[in-house]
Formats: sequence, structure tokens, C-alpha cells
Amino acid sequence: TASPIPRPSETYTTDRYAFAFDIDGVLIRGGNAIPEAIQAMKMLNGENQFDVKIPYILVTNGGGKTEKERCLDLSRQLGLGISPAQFICGHTPMREMIEKYNTVLVVGGEGEKCRIVAEGYGFKDVVTPGDIIKANHHTTPFRKLTGEELRNSRDRDFSNINIEAIFVFADSRDWAGDQQIILDVLMSKNGRLGTRSETFDEGPPVFFSHNDLVWSTSHEHTRIGMGALKASLEALYKVVTGKTLTTVAFGKPQLGTFQFATKLLLQWRKENYGIDKAPETVYFVGDTPESDIRGTNEFNQSRWSGESTWFSVLVKTGVYQEGTIPRYPPQKICSNVLEAVKFGIQREFVKTTKKYP
Ligand code: G3P
Ligand code: MG
Repeated sequence: TASPIPRPSETYTTDRYAFAFDIDGVLIRGGNAIPEAIQAMKMLNGENQFDVKIPYILVTNGGGKTEKERCLDLSRQLGLGISPAQFICGHTPMREMIEKYNTVLVVGGEGEKCRIVAEGYGFKDVVTPGDIIKANHHTTPFRKLTGEELRNSRDRDFSNINIEAIFVFADSRDWAGDQQIILDVLMSKNGRLGTRSETFDEGPPVFFSHNDLVWSTSHEHTRIGMGALKASLEALYKVVTGKTLTTVAFGKPQLGTFQFATKLLLQWRKENYGIDKAPETVYFVGDTPESDIRGTNEFNQSRWSGESTWFSVLVKTGVYQEGTIPRYPPQKICSNVLEAVKFGIQREFVKTTKKYP
């Protein structure tokens, strides 16, 4: 389609605005691309009426794979290249904690995949629930390790290991077993398995990669997610020990995640397009009011958003359902991600007094 307005150059990329996308419920649902997402991505890559390329990043609370592996999946699902340099998942910021803790328990995800992720980040000594069950199969009365799990878990002598922190990287595949193991560590003396604290106040800290109570997948209704496990663990700890467990969540809506996203976006624009200034506007497109919209709005109001305005767009293809009132109101509601991208481009066109978006 020919542009009605002369284009500054053949490969013009806007330096004035950018997009940030949530993944589940916006681009992907139940492992498949949401149909409009493919067209939306093409528009960002220049297939729009202005032939303008618009830089973008992806910010998901999900996880369970290395950033590289996840980007390969996304590239296949969306039909264009997605680079790890434009991607953040729930556990990405956890890599900043590698110096703080030596031995860590990593929970969640498929098989032993999250161990590989954690070691890739630089964690020095990673223990998994599989290692613990392998060392003592009485740990989880109703869970037996499969042959593959037995092969992938490691032989450890826990009598001389202190677990210094617990990281829930991705959704637990076995709530009962994983919660039992987390409780054992939390109720121990200084993270030493097999011991019991007398006071229950010497357990290691627990970090979750996000706090989404529900998320959008193939089922017609939302499914419970990691935030539900977090609530469950806190409740269990209270009834079992009588004490209150304080846990920490990363991911959206935490402002730290949006700060991390800002840094990534600036770097991505600079390295890829040679753009040196901050974008005036970042359109964040999400489906979950509690994490995407709340985070975007609060970040925008914080001093960390700097010169950029973060603009929240809520879509109807995921957690948020038409006819309900979003707990955190977005600046704009669109049917799907394609409409959201069109909306942003049009809004910029109007903003620049119809010169060039
Ligand atoms: O488990 C992932 C889910 O809670 C949210 O993913 O992409 O919607 O942030 P996303
Ligand atoms: Mg989502």
C-alpha cells in the first residue's frame, strides 16, 4: 500500500514511540498464535499505510524455558524473528540475584528445564525438587519420579547443604509435592533439609517469578496460575506453623519489571536502529488488568518512567472479559492486539498533526 505522505527514508523506523506486549492472552493462547497477532506483528515491521517500522519488546510473566528457547517458539508461532534482546519473562530479573545466594532451590516448569535456566543465569548451586525426592523418596508419599526425572536429577547429600533461597521459576506441575518440599525447607533450621526449626523463623526467603492469580490458556475460562500457588503456600504455612510467611513476587505489575523493560527497550532501539533518545510514548498491550494495566499505569505515574509516557491498552482476547469492569482501568480498550497496534499508529499520526507517525 502506497503511503499518502512521503516517507523520510526507505527503512524508516520511528524514534518517537514503541510498543511493549504481554504474551499470554495477547499474542498467544494455549500454545497457538491469536490470529490477529500475526498481522499486528507485520504492521510493526513496516507493513502499514505509512511504511513505518515501530520498535517493540515482549514482557511476559510466563517462563519455564530459556529466553532463547522461548523466542524460537515465538518466532515460529508468530511467523517472524523474535530476539532474546527484545524479550523479558517472569524469571529474567531473577538473574540479578546470582551473587546473593549460593545454594538455591528452583521449583516449577517441565522436568529439570528450570535448572538449566537458573544455571544459565549463573546460579552456582541449583537444587530441584527432583534431587530432593531422589535423595529421599519418602519426601513425597504420592509422587514417584519417572525414569527420565531420575536420570535428570542429581545425587546430593542434603545433610551438609543449606538452601539459602527458594525460587519458583514457573508453574508447578505438582502442587502437593512442591509445596511439601518448600515447607520442609522453610520449616528447617537454616535451610538444612531433615532438620526442624523450633521457632519457624529461620527459613530462607521465597521468590516467585510473578503473582498472576489466573491466566489465559485454551480453556474457555481462565486457569489458576502461580499467584494461586503463592496464596496457597502462604495459607498452608500459617495453618501449619502459626506464623506468617512473607514471600516476594517479581514480574508485572512490579515497578522493577517495568524499569527492567525500559532498559531493555532503550538498548534494543539503540542496538538495532541506532536510536539514542527515549521514546515519547510506550504503548503497553495486555490482557490482565491486575498485572499489565496496573503495572503500566503505576509505572507511568512513578518517577522511573522518565521522559516516556507509558500508555495502557487492554485487549479482550485473554483474562479480561467484555462486560466486566477491569479492577485497574486502562487508557484504552481494544478487541485484540491488531486493533491495539492500529490504534497506537493512528494516535501518533494525529499527535504529529498528521505529518508522519
Ligand atoms: O503463567 C503465565 C501467565 O501467568 C501470564 O503470562 O504473558 O500473560 O504475562 P503473560
Ligand atoms: Mg497475559
